[in-house]
Amino acid sequence: MKDEIHFQVSNYYDELSSIYDEIFDDSVSRAEDLIISEVLSQLIHEGFHVLDCGCGTGLGKELISAKNVHYHGIDISKKMIEQARAKHPDSTFHISDMADLSHYEDESFDAIISINGSFSHVHDPTPVSNEMYRVLKPGGKLLTMVYSRYSLGRLLHSWRHGVLTKEALYSVRNADNEVLVPASFYDRGRLLKTFSKFKNHEIDCLNIMAELIRLNLSLSISLKIMKLERRLPITIRQLAHALTITCEK
Ligand SMILES: C[S@@+](CC[C@H](N)C(=O)[O-])C[C@H]1O[C@@H](n2cnc3c(N)ncnc32)[C@H](O)[C@@H]1O
Repeated sequence: MKDEIHFQVSNYYDELSSIYDEIFDDSVSRAEDLIISEVLSQLIHEGFHVLDCGCGTGLGKELISAKNVHYHGIDISKKMIEQARAKHPDSTFHISDMADLSHYEDESFDAIISINGSFSHVHDPTPVSNEMYRVLKPGGKLLTMVYSRYSLGRLLHSWRHGVLTKEALYSVRNADNEVLVPASFYDRGRLLKTFSKFKNHEIDCLNIMAELIRLNLSLSISLKIMKLERRLPITIRQLAHALTITCEK
C-alpha cells in the first residue's frame, strides 16, 4: 500500500513538474506565498540549516528571507527535484521520501518545513513526524502545512468527498482535475496528535474564502482577506484550505 501510494504520488508530480510553477502563478497562490514567507521569517534566522520536506521546485527556498541559510530540499518526484536544482544551483536537493531521513544524522537541522500540502501525501504520518523530531536540533522549529479536512471547498462539495473522509483523492489547484492523487486531510486534533512529540504547538489557517472566489481576486484583495481570516477563532479557521502547525523540539 505504502509503495503503491509512493508510486502514484511521485508519478503525479513528475507529470506536473514542467508546468508546476506556471499553474501556481495566480494571485491567490501568490498571496498565500506572502503569508507563508512572513511565518517563515519568524522561525528561520541567518545561518540556519533548513530541511524542506516535499520541496517540489524549491518554493520554500524562495520564501525564506533570512540570509546565508543552508537549504536542503527533499522530494519523491525526480522531475520536481530536477526543476528545483535548475532554479537553485546553490542549494542541496535529494530525491527521497520524507518517510526515510536515514541519510541525515540526529540533530542536523535548526528548522524543518513542509509547505503547501506535501505532508498530506504521507501515508503513515507518525513515523515521519518522529523522524523529523530526530533530525531537528533541540529548540529547533518545525512548520508543516496540510490540507484541511473541513475546508469550505470540501464542505460545499461533500457529495464528491463522501463524508469528508481523512483520506481522499485530490487535484492540486489549477491542475487538470480529472487526474487525481491520494491525499490525507487533517483537523486540529489529528494534527496535534501527529506532532505530539513536539512542544509549543500553534495551529493556524490559510485561506478560507479566496480559494472559492479566486478568479475575481487581485493579489492585494486576496492577501487582505487571508489576513483577516487569521483573526477568526480556531473552530472557524478549520474551514480553511490549509492548516499549519508550528512547534518546537
Ligand atoms: C503540492 S506540492 C508542494 C511543493 C512545494 N512544497 C511547494 O510549496 O511548492 C507537494 C510535493 O510533495 C512531494 N511529496 C509528496 N509526498 C512526499 C513524500 N512522502 N516525501 C517527499 N516528498 C513528497 C511531491 O512530489 C510534491 O513535489
